[in-house]
Amino acid sequence: MAGEKPSVELCKGVNGLDKVVLRDALGSSAEVYLFGGHVTSWRTDHRDELLFVSNKAIFKPPKAIRGGIPICFPQFSSHGNLEQHGFARNKFWSIDTDPPPFPSDSSNKTFVDLILKPTDDDFKIWPHSYEFRLRVALGLGGDLMLTSRIRNTNADGKPFSFTFAYHTYFSVSDISEVRVEGLETLDYLDNLKERERFTEQGDAITFESGVDKIYLSTPTKIAIIDHEKKRTFVLRKDGLPDAVVWNPWDRKAKAMPDFGDDEYKHMLCVEAAAIEKPITLKPGEEWKGRLELSAVPSSYCSGQLDPRKVLQG
Ligand code: BG6
Repeated sequence: MAGEKPSVELCKGVNGLDKVVLRDALGSSAEVYLFGGHVTSWRTDHRDELLFVSNKAIFKPPKAIRGGIPICFPQFSSHGNLEQHGFARNKFWSIDTDPPPFPSDSSNKTFVDLILKPTDDDFKIWPHSYEFRLRVALGLGGDLMLTSRIRNTNADGKPFSFTFAYHTYFSVSDISEVRVEGLETLDYLDNLKERERFTEQGDAITFESGVDKIYLSTPTKIAIIDHEKKRTFVLRKDGLPDAVVWNPWDRKAKAMPDFGDDEYKHMLCVEAAAIEKPITLKPGEEWKGRLELSAVPSSYCSGQLDPRKVLQG
């Protein structure tokens, strides 16, 4: 509610799992589970939920939570020898009480810093030492901002490489009424066709069947236009050249135990990612990948729903 004090509160979520609730002065909020460093909720000042979380989501470690924003690290999907989407989404993160300073958002007070470091057991799976710092912040106007800083702390002089994605599940009114702008004419790898490379046509992307594509070298802004909700999501990203677009559609939905048969109609994943060219860090080096999400209400667009203006604005 307007006039509230911004707050950052650690409390218990589903199945007693620890979560941090962020609230800004106007009433926007976000929730982050320490399990997975996983954002599970992002609400407007009117308490409208903007992220999709399945009604069948399990909230039982080590299974990743179905929905919200899972972090895929150090491997996207099955592009490597590790488990699907890497292990960061299956680990317990800690609150980072003394993170190195952030040059950019020092004025913003509504945030939480999390950190993930490997345990001795983790070395057996991925033999590297790292510090993964994640800041989740609410910005002015209720924007949701995620910043990942990954540092190679190997003492043996070895570099490491990784791929990465913010696997964001957006809540949409009806997938057949949604379009995505900003990916036209780009090359993509089609996960449904053995990752063969194609070039997207010139129109905005619409949905009438399952899609699982990795768009390459994408612009820093992408828009998801939800006609029925009269809402546009704008993604702004930095350090994340690729973008995955995924909707399982009916057949795959039925095969997923933690996803309702019809829920594919009400979600769309657009994932800011670094996949085609893995990131390589030498010891002491740090990589930063940032995602900023805004939800623009229809009144902003009314009569002039020109997503290109949104994208350029
Ligand atoms: C997407 C992938 O990012 O995540 C899909 O492109 C995958 O291929 C989907 O099916 C869901 O993955 P998971 O492991 O969360 O079921």
